[in-house]
Amino acid sequence: MFTKKEDKTWRHLQHLQDKFAKIRLRDLFAGDPLRAEKYSLQLENMHVDYSKNLINDEIMRHLFALARERGLEDKIKAMFDGKKINQTENRAVLHIALRHRQKTPIYVDGRDVMPQINTVLEKIRDFSEAVRLGRFTGYTGKKLTDIVNIGIGGSDLGPFMACEALKPYWAKDIHCHFISNIDGTACAEVLNKLNPETTLFIVASKTFTTIETLTNAKTCRHWLTEALGEHAVAKHFVALSTNKAEVEKFGINAENMFEFWDFVGGRYSMWSAIGLIIAIAIGYKNFERLLEGANAMDEHFANTPLEQNIPVVLALIGIWYNNFYNIHRYAVIPYDQYLQYLPAYLQQLDMESNGKSVTLDNKFVNYATGPVLFGGAGTNVQHSFFQLLHQGTEIVPIDFIIPAISHNEIGNHHQILLSNILAQGEALMHGKTEEEAALELEKAGKSKTEIARLKKYKSFSGNRPSTTIIFKKIDPYALGQLVAMYEHKVFTQGIIWNINSFDQFGVELGKQLALNILPEIEGTAFGVEHDSSTAALINYIKKIRK
Ligand code: F6P
Repeated sequence: MFTKKEDKTWRHLQHLQDKFAKIRLRDLFAGDPLRAEKYSLQLENMHVDYSKNLINDEIMRHLFALARERGLEDKIKAMFDGKKINQTENRAVLHIALRHRQKTPIYVDGRDVMPQINTVLEKIRDFSEAVRLGRFTGYTGKKLTDIVNIGIGGSDLGPFMACEALKPYWAKDIHCHFISNIDGTACAEVLNKLNPETTLFIVASKTFTTIETLTNAKTCRHWLTEALGEHAVAKHFVALSTNKAEVEKFGINAENMFEFWDFVGGRYSMWSAIGLIIAIAIGYKNFERLLEGANAMDEHFANTPLEQNIPVVLALIGIWYNNFYNIHRYAVIPYDQYLQYLPAYLQQLDMESNGKSVTLDNKFVNYATGPVLFGGAGTNVQHSFFQLLHQGTEIVPIDFIIPAISHNEIGNHHQILLSNILAQGEALMHGKTEEEAALELEKAGKSKTEIARLKKYKSFSGNRPSTTIIFKKIDPYALGQLVAMYEHKVFTQGIIWNINSFDQFGVELGKQLALNILPEIEGTAFGVEHDSSTAALINYIKKIRK
């Protein structure tokens, strides 16, 4: 699977892990006052401290060697050059073109894709401004104040996360809503609050064939036409898609469609027309800042030596844990209420991209690929799953993210938040030995028996890794940098694992089987063959729904 050279580097890294397992981070910090400085990187207002990871120079050197042997530099170039690196679908992968701010061409099949991207950006600008200024109104002439994005997966998670992350930039008289789940509750709970006359629906679907989105869109269309009639659709529905024929079949005119292209993967699409709701919410200028931030990260990724390349360094540290420590999970913990949906967004980005078992050479892998990602907003999660992170038997590497300045500097809230994020990283890394715990108990006046009984419970193994990412403030530019950083991290890991990070065949089997089961639940098909569990569950559901 690997070349001889790669295999040698891989085996050497295994040997380094054996050696390093005995070394403790707290000792490394004690022995090297410059460790934090040495293992930190900066890009404009973004600071990344990766010194609390289980690494040293020798390990990093071998990880960089592995990346070079796997051809990472050439593969980055291939992506930026529009080569068809999504080989199972024979597509280029050009989310970077969506935020390409330089006036240079990017070719796919000999054709510059930038003019079409810029035309759609202009359309997004004109339309978002018209809605915000009340120039594009609803059917009865009222200002559109409630924007509903109907989409799922990449057509929902990115815009939803970004709108929430950038709430301080929202126009005061515009409210954004998201309908994603096929569960009727998702539609009902949004529509219940809205007035058809002032509601704009954005139907976001790359393929325009996704059953959840089309079912939700039909329900919303019905809700609108019941109130305002069929003619109102043109003033209340727009579509974001690559599939013009299906958009028109649904009854949305081509002029109300914002196009994107098959070189944009669903989970990489918030920079495309899929970002329309972001532009309406925060204004086109701010949307451009989001693109500019991502573009700055793209430039950094494409042009910085691997050793100083933020996405590459983070990716290789992830590889180190995943493949050499056998730690197949990691957590992303933003200490910023507005970033609370970032982990959910990253779950699709990472797990749909790298949850693969077949290599680009058409062979099953014999090593671990994409890890399980989870997370939530700090400090909330400190009071839920952090117990396990500190004292459980699972080691979970963490990305901590925080802005130095909050959008809501109320009293000392943000100072408390800042002190918590730093304390968590320190506690996880440093831990507390039994002796230290005993000493503390003694100082608190506990008896010898009590100390002996409690000191193990009160101790922390420490040596638990984390990376801390600090922004000056979470503005559109910073969010662009952050999201693009994770995109390129995922890309880099896909290269090391020799898998295609840009297809998602794994979601298909469940969709197929659901289509078989639907007529049975609806009572129009009988006797379809299933395993006894599925068959019994279908019968049970039908019985209690009667
Ligand atoms: O089910 C997976 C998936 O194909 C994602 O990759 C995609 O983001 C989502 O469904 C939605 O697809 P579409 O934008 O075509 O509706």
